Amino acid sequence: MKTHRFITGKKNIKFGVEWMGCREKVRVGVIGAGILGTSHVKFCMKHPDVEVVAIADIVKEKAQKLASEAGANAYTDYKEMLKKEPLDAVFVATPDFLHYEPVVTAAEEGKHVYVQKPFATKVEEAKGMVEAAEKAGIKLMVGFGMRWHYAFTAAHVLVREGYLGDLISATMIHNDRIDVPEEMWGPLSKSWARNSTIADFLGSHDSDLIRWISGREAETVYARSTSKALGGVTPDSYNALVTFEGDFQVSLNLNWVAARSKPNLVDGVLLLYGTEGTVQLSWHGLGYNVVSNEGVEVYFNGEVSIDRLFEIRKKV
Ligand SMILES: NC(=O)c1ccc[n+]([C@@H]2O[C@H](COP(=O)([O-])OP(=O)(O)OC[C@H]3O[C@@H](n4cnc5c(N)ncnc54)[C@H](O)[C@@H]3O)[C@@H](O)[C@H]2O)c1
Repeated sequence: MKTHRFITGKKNIKFGVEWMGCREKVRVGVIGAGILGTSHVKFCMKHPDVEVVAIADIVKEKAQKLASEAGANAYTDYKEMLKKEPLDAVFVATPDFLHYEPVVTAAEEGKHVYVQKPFATKVEEAKGMVEAAEKAGIKLMVGFGMRWHYAFTAAHVLVREGYLGDLISATMIHNDRIDVPEEMWGPLSKSWARNSTIADFLGSHDSDLIRWISGREAETVYARSTSKALGGVTPDSYNALVTFEGDFQVSLNLNWVAARSKPNLVDGVLLLYGTEGTVQLSWHGLGYNVVSNEGVEVYFNGEVSIDRLFEIRKKV
């Protein structure tokens, strides 16, 4: 499947506008006016080349509230929205297990689609969405937004430029506080969590990041889950040992049960070891650390752009 960054960033939007037929603005619709749908709308409203035209949610009040903030039309039936509105693209931000139908329907209506991660919770649904996109000739992109965090972009660039040499092993830890599966989606939390897992909700980011940073594909997976704190509604945690091409081995540790009193809702760590260097990063405030075998160390504590990383690397 080819993915395209046609909705992220001004440069790419220009590509999208030209490619979609030289219109002034990309006209978007949003399916799912929850936490992420709202976030998509807020970002689109700030973008000069994007117009939010319509919003659909099965809960009428949610669709109407967000639509009134965006100056858009509200729908409770996304199929009606797709038929009636002159949309170039849609964001699909329905719960994890409800991506398939909106994505396939939007593709069949000829709309480009940006669907939130995880792409799907069932392999057959993932294949069906790819087939629908290919058949319709539309662009289909999965919202793996963590790739655009400077720290992961930097890890990607450093590895791809050979700064770490041959990759040996990596550890990735990703945690949500227990109030995410238990409370974040209000009264729907239990059914939301029951129909997803921490492997889907956060682990999809991690498997994507490891593949993207390393440029390698997984060969074998051994994984197991545990269920204690969440009462079997959904697993508490997963541990996986994944082997990649070229004898690169990765340990993934995913938890949906971190303590309620912990300051960060979500946090994580990536440790990446190569024959020539090491990348150690933890997100949500803890910093970024790159060490080469020559003993040179580059340490970041705050936001740093990829340009700044290159400047520092030139001095190294
Ligand atoms: N919340 C987060 O922190 C977060 C972060 C990144 C990505 N995501 C992803 O974004 C997606 C949405 O998550 P969320 O947290 O916004 O969930 P949410 O429950 O807050 O929002 C989902 C919305 O979809 C609506 N919906 C359900 N079925 C629908 C249908 N058939 N037609 C139209 N609307 C429908 C629901 O009424 C709800 O308003 C998920 O795949 C999630 O993994 C969430």
